[in-house]
Amino acid sequence: MNLITATDLTNDLRKLEIDIEKSVSEDEFIQEICTPLLRGGKRLRPILFLLCARSKNFCSPEKALPLATALELIHTASLVHDDILDSAKKRRGVETLNSKYGAQIAVLVGDYLFAKAFQLVAENDYGNEVSLILSKLVKKLCIGEIMQDRKLFVVPTLSEYYRQIDLKTAFFLSTCCRLGGIVAQLEKSDVENLANYGTSLGLAFQIVDDLLDFFGEENITGKALGGDLKGGVITLPVIRALRIGKNSDTLKKILAQDKISNAEVLTAIKIIRETDAVEYCKNRAASHIYCARLDLPNDIDKSVKNSLEKIADFVINRNW
Ligand code: IPE
Ligand code: IPE
Ligand code: MG
Ligand code: MG
Repeated sequence: MNLITATDLTNDLRKLEIDIEKSVSEDEFIQEICTPLLRGGKRLRPILFLLCARSKNFCSPEKALPLATALELIHTASLVHDDILDSAKKRRGVETLNSKYGAQIAVLVGDYLFAKAFQLVAENDYGNEVSLILSKLVKKLCIGEIMQDRKLFVVPTLSEYYRQIDLKTAFFLSTCCRLGGIVAQLEKSDVENLANYGTSLGLAFQIVDDLLDFFGEENITGKALGGDLKGGVITLPVIRALRIGKNSDTLKKILAQDKISNAEVLTAIKIIRETDAVEYCKNRAASHIYCARLDLPNDIDKSVKNSLEKIADFVINRNW
């Protein structure tokens, strides 16, 4: 069974870009502020949603696109607020809103994007279930970010780390797949399987993101390196290096500073590299991707399944 062609998805994505641009065109100032930021990004969340929305019964682009746009707006809003919390300077290759316009404006622009997303959903009659799922998503994102903020510079246990990345990232990818399955009117068990695929994909996605924060290239990721460590967000590479590294005392001393310098970030990177932390994180990510692939339902459109498998491979091999 093959309902979707590569051309369908390309057409969806072209329209998605137009709808994203339009979503901030009501007000000149909002448009000026948001357009450069909204032009970047991988569009992973709307792509997951659009693929799952085409995974069985035909769901027209007209029906699917407003929700796809809303998901990208919610994601972008969460990044705008995340950058305030992290005092980040660069996002999607451009200056962050907090750096360019100040935190006050950035808070309000983030709020505007959340509100616009919920407007799109309300205008397009997706029904209560979809609205409730989206409210739950935003609440979980907030809880994940609050949990992280309350534990800055504290080394989390593995289970605390996993809980955080589930709340702030995996639940979002899972929700995109779940919503796609719902609009495609899949059977409940298939919706759950797609949602489980999204959860495992999201855990792997965040582990790779945490590696890229140390080992990525700024001009490819579009974000400044070392931000997590400087901001006191202790992620899996550090948790592992602290547990098994012979230089873990030096690493602990770096983490105990009020302010971590660029030189100290480089020292931390060197210490992490001397351990098996990179390999360990890659193996953890790979095992989540393995589970993600297993969760894909068999009776969905073959080319959708194929694309979801390709996304799984992209997530562990990505450098942006
Ligand atoms: C960034 O997500 C936030 C994380 C969950 C790591 P993406 O890496 O998908 O960000 P964009 O949309 O491509 O900018
Ligand atoms: C995901 O985590 C952030 C959100 C939930 C918005 P990160 O803090 O790692 O994301 P980046 O690295 O800033 O993109
Ligand atoms: Mg961040
Ligand atoms: Mg990150």
